[in-house]
Amino acid sequence: MPNPLEKKHIVLGVTGSIACYKSVDLASKLTQNGALVDVLMTPGAVKFVSPLTFSSITHRPVIADIFSPESELGINHVAVAERASVVIVAPATANTIAKLAHGLADDPITTTILATQAPVIVAPAMDAHMYENAATQENVAALQSRGYVFVGPATGRLASGLIGLGRMLETPDLLGCIKMVLSRGGDLSGRKIVVSAGGTQEPIDPVRVLTNHSTGKMGYAVAEAARDRGAEVSLVTTPTALEDPFGVNVINVRTALEMRSVLLHQCSGADALIMAAAVADWRPAKAADHKLKKGEAETWSIELVKNPDILSEIVGEGLVKVGFAAESEDLLANARAKLLSKGLHLIAANDITAPDSGFGTDTNRVTLLDREGRATELPLLTKYEVGHEILDRVAKVLA
Ligand code: C5P
Repeated sequence: MPNPLEKKHIVLGVTGSIACYKSVDLASKLTQNGALVDVLMTPGAVKFVSPLTFSSITHRPVIADIFSPESELGINHVAVAERASVVIVAPATANTIAKLAHGLADDPITTTILATQAPVIVAPAMDAHMYENAATQENVAALQSRGYVFVGPATGRLASGLIGLGRMLETPDLLGCIKMVLSRGGDLSGRKIVVSAGGTQEPIDPVRVLTNHSTGKMGYAVAEAARDRGAEVSLVTTPTALEDPFGVNVINVRTALEMRSVLLHQCSGADALIMAAAVADWRPAKAADHKLKKGEAETWSIELVKNPDILSEIVGEGLVKVGFAAESEDLLANARAKLLSKGLHLIAANDITAPDSGFGTDTNRVTLLDREGRATELPLLTKYEVGHEILDRVAKVLA
């Protein structure tokens, strides 16, 4: 399951908007991820970007003319429609959206979409007034009611130079949306998975906090992996430098106490809690309401009080609980003790002294310990792959 795009037939419809320069990047990222990308272009799109740009990236023919005897559609006008795993129109102009809403089929994209059984994603890109126009809004609503997935547009700087609603989303969100649509019917469909991420921030005063080196990468990767298996995912996170994963319900918190109250709420009715956050064990007994002055003294003490152990506290009927044990010594013994004391189904033990795993890296080397006493030492994997290894086991417990 680690790569939901591998060997998938993705049909990328490119229409005549200046945003089609961004679709070149999308085609590139899809291809790098192992997808087989068939690019279809309208005559308007060809005025902006050459078909050769796309075919050089995808290593597959681009179809820009339905009637050309050399084009696949010229030979079999439904061939691309039938092999598609998903179709995404990015950018989608108001004109193409209107044609789709009315069932026209006069270019490679509209012809293919009319004939496909695959899910269709539409990423609009147009001037704000064109998007807000009642005709466009009615067309969007009609397509949504037929199951088309609309992604964006966002508010931002438009080609006209004005700021407004009509900007096409960027590649990471489009990729996230494609993965989410491909995950329909995955082994975690219908399941609610709650994930925590980041290092909590415990205020000393309005300026200073006690925190740790967690970057949130592990929790974000678990959340994305769960989304890519069809789960409904809530990610409870402290501030990080990471982009919100598309299709994941992201809830921002700062302190351990805030994280605890949000998690208690999120876990009611959830199937699993995967606690990747580095929660501070202690917090200042009292956060000053003004910036503390340096003063003359050479030393300074802060009284700390213990934070609640969130993972131990949260219990729910049928809730599968997964923890992480970041250790610098006696890794497995400490992890097993935590598995038992916190009532977990699984714990991922990682040695934070190794340079390729732990805080801030994109990879992790963990040993998974379960209730049955099994210990599985995983090789060096990306954090996303580690997420899938954990979810393989969560899915088994839930089944
Ligand atoms: O006890 P320790 O902090 O090593 O346990 C790590 C695991 O417990 C992690 O999954 C962490 O998210 C969770 N934890 C918690 N509440 C705390 C401290 C840790 O839920 N106060």
